[in-house]
Amino acid sequence: MAKRSASGNHNSLSAEPHVHQRGREIQRYGTITHAFHLELEEPVRLEMTEQLNQLLADSMTLRDLYKKSHWQVAGPTFYQLHLLFDKHFDEQVEIVDAIAERIQLLGGLAIAMAPDVAETTQIERPPRGREEVPVQISRLLDAHQIIIRDCRKVADRAAKLGDQGTNDLIVSEVLRPNELQSWFVSEHLVNMPLVHATEEVSKAAD
Ligand SMILES: [Fe+2]
Repeated sequence: MAKRSASGNHNSLSAEPHVHQRGREIQRYGTITHAFHLELEEPVRLEMTEQLNQLLADSMTLRDLYKKSHWQVAGPTFYQLHLLFDKHFDEQVEIVDAIAERIQLLGGLAIAMAPDVAETTQIERPPRGREEVPVQISRLLDAHQIIIRDCRKVADRAAKLGDQGTNDLIVSEVLRPNELQSWFVSEHLVNMPLVHATEEVSKAAD
């Protein structure tokens, strides 16, 4: 490791990589920087970043729930669900990035690591083991429901506080894709005959 000079300056040129470094945090979680050029008051940005972080933790959990479902799905609908779950995973990756970057843009700090997400999310933790398809789908729908409910709440609040950018992001890039995914997934829980159609009522009465 390079030695520090007497003045404490350790920027001397060297081809050696300075590995295993640690330092103090330059911004504490739950605080915002002075982004005065946004014309949004600090209390507004602070409240929005808090609410967006909840939405972020829940979206990261749903994203991971889709990958778990993609890997562990079984049964006659394996192939279509395997593909559908991965498509929704990819879309949730985009959603997560959009929310996190909005938090950073507002001067806040986006939650990032799995243990912090686990402590924050409102979504029920699934078992490590494999579950039946209807249970997998029910868990995904429950997660969508939590996110959709929060989207409406945060979008309303953002509009009231004059943060139209956050309102637009939530409605266009979080709420609508979640509504669409929710529909695609929920149709799989409709009890539909696979081979024999149900007999017509008039025929059955003969
Ligand atoms: Fe895969």
